Amino acid sequence: MGQPLSRTCFLADQDATGQLARQLAKALPEEPRGWVILLQGELGSGKSTLARAMLRSMGHSGSVPSPTYTLVEPYEFPNYCVYHIDLYRIADPDELEFLGWSDLADGLRLVEWPERIPDLQAVADVLIQLGYEGSGRVAELIGLSERGARLVEAVSLD
Ligand SMILES: Nc1ncnc2c1ncn2[C@@H]1O[C@H](COP(=O)(O)OP(=O)(O)OP(=O)(O)O)[C@@H](O)[C@H]1O
Ligand SMILES: [Mg+2]
Repeated sequence: MGQPLSRTCFLADQDATGQLARQLAKALPEEPRGWVILLQGELGSGKSTLARAMLRSMGHSGSVPSPTYTLVEPYEFPNYCVYHIDLYRIADPDELEFLGWSDLADGLRLVEWPERIPDLQAVADVLIQLGYEGSGRVAELIGLSERGARLVEAVSLD
């Protein structure tokens, strides 16, 4: 791939983050097995808000606890799983296997704090970089794989 495809949008409030989550969920394949989406950004930048809103958009109606301590929170849908993963406490790539990383390929992996394992970018589809802007947030969507770039292109950001 050449230069990775990147698109930026401003998220004025939490509802705007929810809107982006809905668009991402809509643009994903119906059964997004094997997809990896990285949610990167400093403390409080809205990673969990985006992950929670994506799970809701995909049809999950229960709670979405933080995976900070459990590392992985699984969500079962009829034909696939979503794994909400938090690598904040991970220091070494070996620990990825400890949390069963490769066994999670039957689902969509939503990964917070992916910068803990820089090599993850090589196996991920999309990087979402969140940052502060005024009282809102800004999101940069970067396609890392071919299909990830197509997804970034397909997402409606109006
Ligand atoms: N687009 C937005 N505009 C303004 N506030 C937002 C936006 N998105 C999320 N927030 C708020 O930011 C706060 C932190 O959000 P969140 O917990 O999702 O961040 P995080 O990146 O997961 O943080 P951590 O690194 O601690 O896990 C929450 O109060 C949330 O409501
Ligand atoms: Mg979080």
